Amino acid sequence: MTVKIVPATPDLHKQFRAKLFEIYFESSANDYHEQLLNREKESNHLNDLIQNTNCLFALEAENLTGFLFGKPFLQDCFLPGDIKKSFDIKRCFYVAELAIEKEYRHQGIGTQLIQSLLKKLDKRRYDNAFIATWTKNIPAMNLYQKLGFTPVGKTVEQEKIKKDQSGKFKIYKQYFWKKL
Ligand SMILES: CC(C)(COP(=O)(O)OP(=O)(O)OC[C@H]1O[C@@H](n2cnc3c(N)ncnc32)[C@H](O)[C@@H]1OP(=O)(O)O)[C@@H](O)C(=O)NCCC(=O)NCCS
Repeated sequence: MTVKIVPATPDLHKQFRAKLFEIYFESSANDYHEQLLNREKESNHLNDLIQNTNCLFALEAENLTGFLFGKPFLQDCFLPGDIKKSFDIKRCFYVAELAIEKEYRHQGIGTQLIQSLLKKLDKRRYDNAFIATWTKNIPAMNLYQKLGFTPVGKTVEQEKIKKDQSGKFKIYKQYFWKKL
């Protein structure tokens, strides 16, 4: 499916705010994220991204079908130490969030969002792009490798609370890198 990829202006953020939150919460709670979500914390995270990072929207017939948030990697508080040591981080860009509405998935929209970002990125300012996902998230793992991203660094372990609050579980985050 061909969608219109546009930079998210303040007006577009206002127009699609409810939809953006809906897509974000649905995708954070999907099969690959069997975790209990702290809605207040997640809402604060999303509000911070809206205010402080660059965002692209994928629009189809005036509907928001997906989005991507990106920022300089230096601004990411979870930046892993081994990656920090191996790259000139000032010249690295990081895709912080990417999500497509459930019924629009696997129709090429994630691909279009990432390709559009890679095309738009200022190559005088950035040499490398990074993106990350939980290793259990097979669609994302496949997508990034299909677009030429390579796994980089050690996986990052995180402990999460199960959705039914019956206990904790561990998940592993894999970073991917692509030379611009
Ligand atoms: C991961 C995600 C962003 C992929 O976006 P998408 O628009 O569905 O992906 P595309 O249609 O562009 O797919 C491109 C490639 O990704 C892989 N892929 C996508 N969906 C897949 C699936 N369900 N199973 C396996 N591989 C899949 C395939 O390699 C696919 O190529 P193909 O069409 O030749 O099979 C989307 O599934 C999503 O929003 N998931 C929930 C949120 C999320 O996990 N975000 C990313 C991690 S933070």
